[in-house]
Amino acid sequence: MKILHVVGARPNFMKVAPLSRALQQYPHIESRIVHTGQHYDEKMSDIFFRQLELPRPDYYLGIGGGTHTQQTAKIMLAFEELLREYRPDIIVVVGDVNSTLAASLVAKKEGIRLAHVEAGLRSGDRAMPEEINRILTDSVSDYLFVSEMAGMINLSREGVPGEKMFFVGNVMIDSLIFFRQKASRLTLEGLLEQRMSSGGAPSSPTPSLSGGDYALMTMHRPSNVDGEEGLNNILQIIRDTVKRLPVIFAIHPRTYKNFGKFNLLDALEAIPGLVLLPPQGYLQFLRLMDSAALIITDSGGIQEETTYLQIPCLTLRSSTERPSTVELGTNFLMASLAPAAVRQKVSDILDGKTKKGIIPPFWDGQAAVRIAEVLGGI
Ligand code: UD1
Repeated sequence: MKILHVVGARPNFMKVAPLSRALQQYPHIESRIVHTGQHYDEKMSDIFFRQLELPRPDYYLGIGGGTHTQQTAKIMLAFEELLREYRPDIIVVVGDVNSTLAASLVAKKEGIRLAHVEAGLRSGDRAMPEEINRILTDSVSDYLFVSEMAGMINLSREGVPGEKMFFVGNVMIDSLIFFRQKASRLTLEGLLEQRMSSGGAPSSPTPSLSGGDYALMTMHRPSNVDGEEGLNNILQIIRDTVKRLPVIFAIHPRTYKNFGKFNLLDALEAIPGLVLLPPQGYLQFLRLMDSAALIITDSGGIQEETTYLQIPCLTLRSSTERPSTVELGTNFLMASLAPAAVRQKVSDILDGKTKKGIIPPFWDGQAAVRIAEVLGGI
């Protein structure tokens, strides 16, 4: 049986790695990988292949950036072309990025069975491009692998028959468990050596850190970082937070470009107690998370990783497609980028007013093994 895995953007790689490994136990399965090239920088892509011990992609579509429509359409055309050359029995897509949806549509137009890993998640916010990707991908999938209970409920409500749904747990957590010890060998001092500066404003001295005395930050949602108001709010949140503890900000290319576009880079770099880092490798970011006092983010996956690590997470979004991280885990949704609310929550957490959380069911390092059992038995 031939399985083709589709990856495209940074959050896909750590989801495919454990599945690719688990499928090696099934000699009758030939497993290949196609990379769409949605993310293309070394730091957004290649480093993840090396660190996650993922086999090099068998096919590379080289799509690159563009509007959502351009990206989706370019991937569809190139992927259709590839399927003329290589015809898998099953196509596996993960997550909710544009590459996921584009490949799913082509799979079904070509009459190939489709498996979606991380199915059923819904934020309820249709202004999020990922929400549209999730709904459409699930609606054409034949095998829906679900990471948390809410996903099963959402799919049932949408009329997906029970035999198509599999509650398997969280493959992103599989990678975290698998690589946590390796990441722990990296030193914080070594990681801070990558500190960025555009040479504009003089940077403040690099704080010396030990575990538990810094906040870690990421921010990349278009709704938060594409406008000047959002960027100013982020500046204010950092200025407030550094009054309590140093902030390490691993900055996404979209966010970095936008700070530049609105002439706010100097203001960012001038904040004392802030360490600006380029996008981090998988192991580096895991190391930074594992020792943080708290995390401020708008990421999807980091909500899950912090829940597993039982580290308080402030998610600067008004909704989440991963409700178990709030209901069971250590995640707090902040309705908006309002700096005053974030300042109060950071204070509360540092003063011990937080929650310890529990780890959701099946976030145990074995999700990919469960998926492989299903695929191996087809
Ligand atoms: C995409 C996903 C988002 C995911 C995020 C993780 C969609 C709709 N969005 O958003 O769900 O959380 O990835 O990073 O698929 N860029 C580079 N180098 C790269 C990649 C991107 O410089 O290797 C820049 C480009 O200017 C690009 C911009 O970042 O236009 C945004 O990239 P894009 O893939 O469009 O979306 P993300 O914001 O990364």
